Amino acid sequence: MKKVLVTGGCGYIGSHTMVDLMDNGFEVLSIDNLSNADGSALAGIRKITGQRVRNYKVNLCDLKKTRQVFEKNPGISGIIHFAALKSVEESVFEPLRYFHNNNESLLNVLACAQEFGVPDFIFSSSCSVYGNATELPVTENTPFREAESPYARTKQMGEKIIGDFTKAAPTVKAMLLRYFNPAGAHPSALIGESPRTKASNLVPVITETAIGKRASMTVFGSDYDTRDGSCVRDFIHVMDLANAHTKCLQFLMANPQAVPCEVLNAGIGSGVTVLEAIHAFEKVTGQRLNYQIGPRRAGDVVAIYANAEKAARLIGWAPQRGIEEIMRSAWEWEQRRSR
Ligand code: WQD
Repeated sequence: MKKVLVTGGCGYIGSHTMVDLMDNGFEVLSIDNLSNADGSALAGIRKITGQRVRNYKVNLCDLKKTRQVFEKNPGISGIIHFAALKSVEESVFEPLRYFHNNNESLLNVLACAQEFGVPDFIFSSSCSVYGNATELPVTENTPFREAESPYARTKQMGEKIIGDFTKAAPTVKAMLLRYFNPAGAHPSALIGESPRTKASNLVPVITETAIGKRASMTVFGSDYDTRDGSCVRDFIHVMDLANAHTKCLQFLMANPQAVPCEVLNAGIGSGVTVLEAIHAFEKVTGQRLNYQIGPRRAGDVVAIYANAEKAARLIGWAPQRGIEEIMRSAWEWEQRRSR
């Protein structure tokens, strides 16, 4: 079995991706310092797959300790690098912490990929690299605009670092996966989104409101130039997103002559407004949601959604799940974790 190192494997997308990798015959190991995950995902993964996954509780900014993981695990065929600080709002107040953590950990993992001869590298990037895109849907050739947050800038910088590195290091090939809005949970409701910090993303805020952890929620703005005045986003089910990583790895392994660094959008290719997402939740769950319309949130882009044709063409990936399955699985996860 080919061995894959997943950094941030105890996190939301990392844990779902490890399940998909194992379902597709890969052996996985994780490095996660548990700064934003509590390790309970490993128990969920074991129940789902019947297999135990080893997590090394190591800070990737510590090159010495990171190298030791590679020394202990020879023959790693691929790396999927999720580990990063990812709060848009927090990054605005702590830019240096974000630049140090996200860039230094990336540099260390790339150095180990080169030193230990790991040929394939997948990077967790984000649609936030596009900034306030003027053309929609965005394609992989849509140029970067000004990053709306230091978090987004670390993703722009990460992509450039990997591009330069793979041009110079012929032994490593990379794919940069630009996520749109990941949401939902594994159908077993044994793993899902469980941030250590208070949720700020729309879907967990909806489910926390519905279950009573929040008295109400706010729709940040209904006066945008969109079909119902609220923002538009491309919500991608985390199970579909997980499978995109597996398909990227399979593509790299099957195409050693592939270009050094490929970029792919990971979105479903259409947009849903915030109010439509709320109504989808109410329809699927039968729950009436207590929300009010409030002022716009600083840093929000009005609308963004993907042109997803390249991923379908290049790696044969086509997302299967829409907003209603996202809401159904997110609600089941919220109910289970709140028991
Ligand atoms: C979505 C929409 C809010 C909460 C960010 C990052 C992206 C990715 C996902 C990491 C916006 C509205 C939200 C609420 C609301 N991060 N909203 N009330 O900002 O699109 O994307 O998180 O992978 O890279 O940029 O996601 O879920 O915070 O917001 O009205 O209580 O929901 O205004 O329009 P966002 P989000």
